[in-house]
Amino acid sequence: MNKYIILIFPVLLFAGFLYAVDDKSGLVTGKCDTCHSIDKICKNIGKKDSSAWEKTIDRMIKKGAKVSGDEKKEILAYLPGLEPGTNPICK
Ligand code: HEC
Repeated sequence: MNKYIILIFPVLLFAGFLYAVDDKSGLVTGKCDTCHSIDKICKNIGKKDSSAWEKTIDRMIKKGAKVSGDEKKEILAYLPGLEPGTNPICK
């Protein structure tokens, strides 16, 4: 029994990590490319800090982007930390 837990725990941890990373990029590609291409976001990676991204997202919400408070937090935890050129925001 103990052996199983030791084996399974890192696998779950890793899967959870992959899911968390994937989830946020999916959120951006799902919510943010309905009005313009995701390229607009790609071009700003590494240029906007988190307060600049927050202003941008608030402006997008005013234009009609369907982003909830939690989703905004997730996007803000994701976009400002990306390296320029990161997939899948920059293909
Ligand atoms: C309802 C339509 C709509 C949605 C959905 C939308 N945008 Fe936009 N976005 C626009 C329009 C229109 C412009 C160009 C005019 C402007 O910049 O105000 C724009 C421009 C931008 C720009 C370039 C201008 C700048 O401020 O740097 C960025 C970056 C951006 N959007 C990011 C996003 C992100 C991130 C999301 C998802 C949270 C998103 N957009 C979702 C309509 C939208």
